[in-house]
Amino acid sequence: MSFEPQLPEWGLEKFEKHKERLLKYHSWLVDTGIKTGLISNKSKQFVWDEFIIHSLYFALLINKKTEENHEKLEIFDIGTGAGIPGIPISIVQKGSVKLIDIKQKRIYELERLIKILNLRNAIAKKEDAKSIFKNVKNSIIVMRCYESTSNILKMLENQNLINKNLTFYISSNAKTLEKFNNLFHVKQEKFLINKNNFRYIDVITDM
Ligand SMILES: C[S@@+](CC[C@H](N)C(=O)[O-])C[C@H]1O[C@@H](n2cnc3c(N)ncnc32)[C@H](O)[C@@H]1O
Repeated sequence: MSFEPQLPEWGLEKFEKHKERLLKYHSWLVDTGIKTGLISNKSKQFVWDEFIIHSLYFALLINKKTEENHEKLEIFDIGTGAGIPGIPISIVQKGSVKLIDIKQKRIYELERLIKILNLRNAIAKKEDAKSIFKNVKNSIIVMRCYESTSNILKMLENQNLINKNLTFYISSNAKTLEKFNNLFHVKQEKFLINKNNFRYIDVITDM
């Protein structure tokens, strides 16, 4: 099957200039990522569409937010695994991105990757998500295939994480969101990752 590293229309203008480094990360995923078990064996096209393009939509939403609010917020990618979506986010924007995973082996691989890509704004750290949530404020938190929106909403409510200036971007399925309380606002973003396939990201902010 031929490999086409396409950019959907929403990303053409913003991300074309970063394509070389995105392709370098793509090669690392397809080679080292698969060899070291960070990702399972997938085709080049799947890795590009599902991991790189999906991650770029997180970056698009973060750019929109920081441009609108002129705020410098810390970015955490919780349960980053092979750096998804945190590595593409750190490639295409300047803010610093903390890549958090509970597995030390993944952190070692990510540290090597950060050197290969010469990324000055990415830091990989072994930490339990729970300890991040205890102290976090003024931050953007991204998660892909880590935790559901419902569970994050429960956690926010239980730990009384209101008025901390937090925004969560969480990969999700298309399910309608249950109403939890009126402390948090949830908006679902729908976007194409290629010609035919849509994906969703839930955005949680406090009211
Ligand atoms: C399903 S993978 C998703 C990886 C990546 N975000 C992606 O989209 O491909 C979930 C990741 O979360 C990490 N993880 C699991 N529990 C965690 C915790 N309590 N704190 C931080 N990371 C955790 C795992 O080690 C794994 O790398």
